[in-house]
Amino acid sequence: MKKCRSFFGMLCAVCLCAALLTACGSKPGNRTREIRIGVTVYDEYDTFITELMEVFMADVAEANARDQETTVSVLTYNAAQSQITQNEQVEKLISKGCDLICVNLVDRTDPSMIIDMAREADIPVIFFNRELVEEDLFSWDKLYYIGADASESGKIEGRIAAAYLKENPGADRNGDGSIQYVVLEGEAGHQDAIVRSDTSVDALLEEGIKIEKLESSIANWNRGQAQNRMSQLIDRYGEEIELVLTNNDDMALGAVDEYDKRETAGDKRPAIIGIDGTKVGLEGVRNGKLIGTVYNDKEGQALAMLQLAQAVISGKDPDSLSFADGLSLTEGKYIRLPYSEITPENISQYDKGE
Ligand code: BGC
Repeated sequence: MKKCRSFFGMLCAVCLCAALLTACGSKPGNRTREIRIGVTVYDEYDTFITELMEVFMADVAEANARDQETTVSVLTYNAAQSQITQNEQVEKLISKGCDLICVNLVDRTDPSMIIDMAREADIPVIFFNRELVEEDLFSWDKLYYIGADASESGKIEGRIAAAYLKENPGADRNGDGSIQYVVLEGEAGHQDAIVRSDTSVDALLEEGIKIEKLESSIANWNRGQAQNRMSQLIDRYGEEIELVLTNNDDMALGAVDEYDKRETAGDKRPAIIGIDGTKVGLEGVRNGKLIGTVYNDKEGQALAMLQLAQAVISGKDPDSLSFADGLSLTEGKYIRLPYSEITPENISQYDKGE
């Protein structure tokens, strides 16, 4: 709740500020132009999305402070996990005069209504984080996608886990030469769920770690659900579990919550690893509850989204531009930010005064 308040608090602040600047006839600095970006997120309670939007709004505020001529105003909706609601929100954003809409799809297989409405009104759309299939993305030239490469995050997760297991032979608590593991997975059908699980296991094997899967369980990116699933897994496998691979930090921390609740001693806990590098995820690595995480570059994604939106709205050829981190658009459609490794050894690079 607290996070959402600050996210929407910030949204209101930026929108209000933009509205005041335009309403007051452009002070300070005689602003002559306003660009309007509509955003709809699949679920405002998702930790990663909340943080990405916080960064996006901070980038917008910074752009407004820097550019004395153009005001960027942003209108944001929460689709609360309903594709029907999200379709209605896009309709509203179009009717409110948005120049471009950023969509964090609820159902990544069902963007057709949104695409049809946007095309009809000639309003470009940047999809982000929840990747639509190629056929949909290529169905109109004013559609774009910003995200990351899921397989890369899984590989990095597997490599971090492998390095940890090599350095800590005691992690194989039963000493059978094989690591018994469970997986906590994100939403079924999300591009980042299955791919992350598969590639992290592949990377462990490539690194020469012998592993044995006990079970995988879907916890929908959610900390509470993950705690619940972990409780069931512990009841079933007890101390056999030596490694918990997860598709995101919130689920990794849900597993930690369950061990904390059971007051399990450190030497009886499995190694637990996440993906995202959210504030709570970083804290988990700092305090040793997680062996590591994988940075899902929300800063880069948010900045690329704003830069691409500004370029498209002002009629620049996005193909000729370079975006956050020196990236450019690939196939005229995609910007994918790279993932990176976060472990106790390098976490100080990710400390941003938190
Ligand atoms: C993130 C998850 C998030 C999901 C939402 C993923 O890329 O790693 O934390 O819940 O996106 O779509």
